[in-house]
Amino acid sequence: MSYQLLDGKETSKQIKAEIAEKVSQIIKNGGKQPHLAAILVGNNGASETYVAHKTKSCVQVGFKSSLIRFDNDISECELIEKIEEINKNDDINGLIVQLPLPEHISEDKIIESIIPEKDVDGFHPTNVGRMTVGLPAYISATPKGILELLKRYNIKTSGKHCVVIGRSNIVGKPMSILLSQKNETGNSTVTLCHSRTKNLKEITLQADILIAAIGKQEFVTSDMIKDGVVVIDVGIHRVKSDKTKSGWKLKGDVKFDEVAPKCSYITPVPGGVGPMTIVSLLQNTLLAAKKEIYG
Ligand code: GUN
Repeated sequence: MSYQLLDGKETSKQIKAEIAEKVSQIIKNGGKQPHLAAILVGNNGASETYVAHKTKSCVQVGFKSSLIRFDNDISECELIEKIEEINKNDDINGLIVQLPLPEHISEDKIIESIIPEKDVDGFHPTNVGRMTVGLPAYISATPKGILELLKRYNIKTSGKHCVVIGRSNIVGKPMSILLSQKNETGNSTVTLCHSRTKNLKEITLQADILIAAIGKQEFVTSDMIKDGVVVIDVGIHRVKSDKTKSGWKLKGDVKFDEVAPKCSYITPVPGGVGPMTIVSLLQNTLLAAKKEIYG
């Protein structure tokens, strides 16, 4: 079977151009430049890369971006004080705190200290709750980006069996909720699988759309999927390689070479879900600047 790549890189370029156009309109009408602030604690290599991509993308679409860095030993209290200062700063529309955080800091407490109005990651329980009951909310960037990618490739979810592997608060859980919502990008039957699922292969073989967000390199193999499936690979794993200049390459949660030939559509890694996650964050920041969620 010949498969089609779901090109997140190209799709994200189009969306960035659309966002840039909207920003020019805002400025032309005398409005303010949307402003995203990012907090980065410590020097985790992957987090450094993600935040660098986010700030660069802000500049590309005409947003203002601020990066606030702290050493690994910042206290939880100091971090919350900084967040509260940003909560009150009218010049900043959206705030993200890059995860993971050092062990001595509670991620839950940090997420809850960001006011829902500026929580453009969509991680605050208020946004998660509103999303769950179908109220306007900031939606977690990765699942939002996946739905946008499916939509732009005209892949319908209604009536399909979507199997999500992984139950994280950031990806798997919101993904499963969004796909089952009664709306155009939902209406599917969802099975959420995780590390305790007993008959995983039996379930994944039934998937019309399979979302792999399990965090295990090349976990999904060709014997786990049926012909014609749509596969979305959320995994990002750095693997040492002597074939690249940087000395490493990226692999996903899916064993691409053997899985792709059985698919109708599949996302590559890199260039699939990653760039879509970043544009979703930009879209959320634009919503924040226009006060479209909370008024
Ligand atoms: N760490 C991994 N993914 C994300 C994300 O989408 N937002 C934040 N803040 N941290 C992350």
